[in-house]
Amino acid sequence: MDTAWWHGSVIYHIYVRSFQDSNGDGIGDLRGLLSRLDYLKELGVDALWLSPIFASPNRDFGYDVSDYYAIQPELGTIDDVHALIQEANKREIRIIFDLVLNHTSDEHPWFIESRSSKDSEKADYYIWSDDIPNNWMGAFGGRAWTFDQSRGQYYLHSFLKEQPDLNWRNNAVAEALFKMVRYWLELGIDGFRLDVINLIIKDETLRSNPKIVGSRPRPYDLQRHIFDRNRLESHAKIRQLRSVIDEYDGRMLVGEIMAELPGEPELAASYLGKENDELHLSFDFSLAYARFTASSWKRVAKRWYEATGSKRDPSWVLSNHDLPRFSSKVRGNRHKLKLAALFLLTQRGAVFIYYGEELGLPNSRVCPKEMHDPLGKKYWPFHRGRDLSRGPMVWSIGPGNGFSEAKSWLPVTKDANFYSVENQNLEPDSLLNFYRTAIALRKGDTVLTMGHCTFIEAENPHLLIYCRTLGAERRLIVLNMSSGYQTCSLADLVPGEEIAALRLFSTHPEGRAEERGLGPLELAPWQGSVYDLVAQRRKSRSS
Ligand code: GLC
Ligand code: CA
Repeated sequence: MDTAWWHGSVIYHIYVRSFQDSNGDGIGDLRGLLSRLDYLKELGVDALWLSPIFASPNRDFGYDVSDYYAIQPELGTIDDVHALIQEANKREIRIIFDLVLNHTSDEHPWFIESRSSKDSEKADYYIWSDDIPNNWMGAFGGRAWTFDQSRGQYYLHSFLKEQPDLNWRNNAVAEALFKMVRYWLELGIDGFRLDVINLIIKDETLRSNPKIVGSRPRPYDLQRHIFDRNRLESHAKIRQLRSVIDEYDGRMLVGEIMAELPGEPELAASYLGKENDELHLSFDFSLAYARFTASSWKRVAKRWYEATGSKRDPSWVLSNHDLPRFSSKVRGNRHKLKLAALFLLTQRGAVFIYYGEELGLPNSRVCPKEMHDPLGKKYWPFHRGRDLSRGPMVWSIGPGNGFSEAKSWLPVTKDANFYSVENQNLEPDSLLNFYRTAIALRKGDTVLTMGHCTFIEAENPHLLIYCRTLGAERRLIVLNMSSGYQTCSLADLVPGEEIAALRLFSTHPEGRAEERGLGPLELAPWQGSVYDLVAQRRKSRSS
């Protein structure tokens, strides 16, 4: 069995600016994060993915890197990174960096040199053109081409004009980036989350994208992105990057695959490589967009498993720093939040938890005046901005909620005391305590981390039922995604077998105690349970 650590892992995604402030400037930092490692250990996560921490003018909060070798001063120092790796590893927690390879900041020395003249050494580090060659748009508004006075040419930027796209067709660029990747791997980083990695290669002749008819607030969404994304050659580049990673033991790549539809699992899976020689994991965001019903979640999960296949890992994610928080989608309903968590934590592959998700943290309210996100600033009110899911973590009861002594850079969510870790620690049945026990259940059971997953077609449309199998061991998971009482018969679910279901775990504490059953399985509203399937006695073939 391949025992790479990310199989079955639980990875916690931290927006560093909003996790814990240590020096009273209202901005989360690495020292702050360091002081919260015990919390993360107790939660039971295997790894932390840190949002970008490299030097940046913050036009897009770290997604515009001006120096890949320097730490953003307001977030900390290289010594803090050393301390973080050491202290995390002591607790068997791995550290993953967010790496932006598609573009840099316009303040990166490469761009400064590139824009200085057509004859500069870095002239071809970016994508330049004498005139606007096509209809490509920037994802944050305006055309994807901006004129540069000093060079007298246009340069390409898929996002802000302060985020010029690197020219990956130039081998010198790839080599310079790989050198930097090696630097961080030597330092002990366990892997990378690769930002918009399907954008790195553009059409060689810069053809225009086909238009889509319709009306959308963002012109970017009015074309099919077939020439500025997903070019075949990007796979070869990712394979090269993978071979760099493979020079080191146990390092992992997870890629963000920017999709046009609210989920394109086949596209995300294609970046795992036909020979499993590209990314180890990739993100598909279907679940974040799907309706919270048994049929939609089943459809999404089956499609994702089919796309990834049995030899590759799907990854599971409810929200992130670009999407609204999941809790707001289900209006903070504690039962639904537990059910969603149980679904994720009983899937094969890797589970990502966005900080605060374990608390049921809702979106924060950010009015246009307080907004930092360039996307929200440009498209408010059509797009309310991404700041709403980037609010401060809430640790304790009282002013500032333990995040900072100063005014935090984004407002703390309403009802923060209620959601706080301190408050939820007091309540045995809180969402936080549920996450702790459900993660422990997963980590303690190889059937849940590694077992094959098969969905069972139930007659009852409110139930989402699947079975995880590893060798002779089986776990049955039944989720009642409705507000009514539901039952199902074990004999229908596992026909032709004399089987008993031993309840191992449930979202409802009263149902968590072990129970043996041959008869119907009963589920309260929004209840989900995990059963061990135990063979009673084989039916004889003739009967
Ligand atoms: C990715 C990031 C997003 C960022 C964009 C540009 O989508 O997740 O936050 O703004 O890339 O780097
Ligand atoms: Ca700080």
